[in-house]
Amino acid sequence: MSGSGTNLQVLIDSPDIRPHIRLVVSDRPGAVALSRAEKAGIPTAQVRWEQHGARDEFSAAVAEVIESHGAEGVVLAGFMRILSAGFVDRFPGRILNIHPSLLPAFPGANAVESALDHGVKVTGVTVHFVDEKVDHGPIIAQEPVEVFEGDTVDSLHARIQRVEHVLYPRIVRSLVQDRLAIEHGLASA
Ligand code: GRF
Repeated sequence: MSGSGTNLQVLIDSPDIRPHIRLVVSDRPGAVALSRAEKAGIPTAQVRWEQHGARDEFSAAVAEVIESHGAEGVVLAGFMRILSAGFVDRFPGRILNIHPSLLPAFPGANAVESALDHGVKVTGVTVHFVDEKVDHGPIIAQEPVEVFEGDTVDSLHARIQRVEHVLYPRIVRSLVQDRLAIEHGLASA
């Protein structure tokens, strides 16, 4: 997590998912996500980019703290750092990300703004396995979200997040129940 952690909150609030959350990691000390975890009694850790400075070292430190808490999978939600290929290899087929567009359209940090700038009429949400590229990797699930006239980044993102909060628990549930896999480069659920 790097930010507000609304997706984390819906995972915490899912009684069948909550017991599987071993740790919440953030790269930002003030991340609201950390206080959500603390309130729920979930261990937290901070791994600061500045303390490592290079992607491989930073990613290794994140992987070590995750493994030291006995976690076997990783669920990214608004994590604003790119993790190394070595990190991806340590959790094969067990790293998820959620992205506020219908990938492969609009990867990157400004997906909602880019969708508006392009005048698309439908955007959406993607949950995918993470690989070493940004907002890339086998797509597990997608949901469309209509763009309304007069939408702003905030109004559209709010509607996208309502969809995220239903979709992500569904897919994370499949992850903890070991029902997700990658076969021939494609996700199966
Ligand atoms: C979500 O919109 C997600 O798609 C994107 O970052 C945002 C995180 O939101 N990757 P939150 O921190 O879970 O509220």
